[in-house]
Amino acid sequence: MDKLRVLITRQQIAAKVAEMGKRITADFAGQPVVLIAVLKGATIFLADLARQIQLDVSFDFIAVSSYGSAKHQSGEIKLMKDLDRSMEGRNVILVEDILDTGLTLTYLKNVLQAHRPKTLRIAALLDKISRRTAPIHGDYVGFAIPDEFVVGYGLDFAERYRNLPDICVLESCPETG
Ligand code: IMP
Ligand code: MG
Repeated sequence: MDKLRVLITRQQIAAKVAEMGKRITADFAGQPVVLIAVLKGATIFLADLARQIQLDVSFDFIAVSSYGSAKHQSGEIKLMKDLDRSMEGRNVILVEDILDTGLTLTYLKNVLQAHRPKTLRIAALLDKISRRTAPIHGDYVGFAIPDEFVVGYGLDFAERYRNLPDICVLESCPETG
């Protein structure tokens, strides 16, 4: 049996996401933006963040292979689903659930740069700063968290727990220990 401990409540998430949306609205005042969610973990964050942005917002989705069924990064990143259209000349915000080693977003930033967007920013709800191996930072970051494996609000363990409304630490599970 997995044991869950609430780390960030749904109320704290809602307040933070509203704040992030306000900042994005102010930073891009009057301009359209494209939110690109990294599947699947960022979908719930995207849905909430988009509704806190008072601009002309469109969505796209991209998918990479990353963790598999356990918490350990395979090291190799592969593009599993590309964007639907070109991002040339557009204001792009890459929306990610969590910045961990930074390898995923470094890879995706390079993919996006090749489109020659007008601007390219990163919005990450969570940031495990101590785990970073790639020199990358989020432009809009929700919460810095310690090096613990978390689930909920889109984040999974072996595809489970994405639907939890709070962000929880997954405890007493041998594979995450
Ligand atoms: P990075 O490439 O190491 O930065 O990994 C980012 C990806 O790893 C995220 O998109 C998540 O899917 C996954 N990940 C990293 N830490 C966690 C965690 O604590 N819980 C669930 N997924 C995580
Ligand atoms: Mg993910």
